[in-house]
Amino acid sequence: MAKIKVAVIGAGGIGGTHLTAYKFWQEQCEIVGISDINLAPAESRVREFGGKAFQSAEEMLDTVKPDAISICTPPNAHLASVQAAAARGIAVLCEKPPARTLAETEKIVETAAQSKSAFQFAFCHRFHEPVMQAREMIANGKLGKPVQIYNRFGFRFDRAGNSWFTDKETAGGGVLIDTLVHSIDIFRAITAQEINRVSGSISTILPNIRVEDSASILVTSTGGVAGSLNCSWVTPVSEAEIRIYGTQGEAVIDYNKPGGLLYKLAGDSDWSQLPADESLNRFTRQADHFLKCVDAGTQPIVGGADGIAVMKVIDAAYSSLKNENNVIQ
Ligand SMILES: NC(=O)c1ccc[n+]([C@@H]2O[C@H](COP(=O)([O-])OP(=O)(O)OC[C@H]3O[C@@H](n4cnc5c(N)ncnc54)[C@H](O)[C@@H]3O)[C@@H](O)[C@H]2O)c1
Repeated sequence: MAKIKVAVIGAGGIGGTHLTAYKFWQEQCEIVGISDINLAPAESRVREFGGKAFQSAEEMLDTVKPDAISICTPPNAHLASVQAAAARGIAVLCEKPPARTLAETEKIVETAAQSKSAFQFAFCHRFHEPVMQAREMIANGKLGKPVQIYNRFGFRFDRAGNSWFTDKETAGGGVLIDTLVHSIDIFRAITAQEINRVSGSISTILPNIRVEDSASILVTSTGGVAGSLNCSWVTPVSEAEIRIYGTQGEAVIDYNKPGGLLYKLAGDSDWSQLPADESLNRFTRQADHFLKCVDAGTQPIVGGADGIAVMKVIDAAYSSLKNENNVIQ
């Protein structure tokens, strides 16, 4: 295939991760531009990855004319970049959370649909190999009927309390919208079902912030799977784990351990582990899928509808915090 011209808007942390993934696929694509409202990080990324640095995203799109972009800015700026790309027929890989609210997400999805180009939300865990293996194991019935899913992403986040991540205007909320957004999409992907019940519980430990720095939600899916999804930015022991309990066995994804899916079926005396191809990570696989869709003119496996479904759960979880029916006097 002819090399796809890619550009990245937002040259911070995850911008670097997207650029690294595109560089990995340099036979398939060429990095032509990097923009950031602060020119210095864009220039620094250009020195490492090539292309041309810009302060204005629109000027970049009109000058280097990419076929596809990654949107790697904070959530408050996702919509404007999607509008700029859609107006020019450019394919988009947009970082999570989709936006600050459900309404803003719907606007993004509506805008993206007006251009027929590929549109993908960066729910990167769909491309984590053990998650892919868990989905397959459930789809082919090996674990039986899924009954419960437990997940926790917990760590001490040094940007909580001193950056846009804990500014509601920019981020839309705290750890619930930023990190638990992944948990919700993983639950939907693994069960292949939508969530139709949610209740949330949050806590804030850090001083001087107006958003939550820990969150837990209980969810139920349309097919009756119960989920306990938990995230924290203030606990020091780094944990990233998903446990899936089915009527015929259990599977565990531990991000801190190498290898593929761990599982134990009814009657097994010990745990087994599937092999994993460690040469690719979830970000390189995510970029690969996006580039293939751009090349083929098809829509990615995780698009606008997923963003809306996830944000409906986030919205309902925040609303559930205002419910007075479960308050004990
Ligand atoms: N998929 C993941 O695992 C993952 C991990 C981290 C962050 N993210 C998401 O990626 C996005 C960016 O996060 P980050 O950690 O890279 O943040 P960051 O603060 O490290 O970088 C953001 C960059 O965007 C720039 N920026 C801000 N507003 C802009 C605008 N209007 N136009 C152009 N540039 C702008 C900033 O100057 C900064 O350089 C967020 O939506 C975040 O939730 C996803």
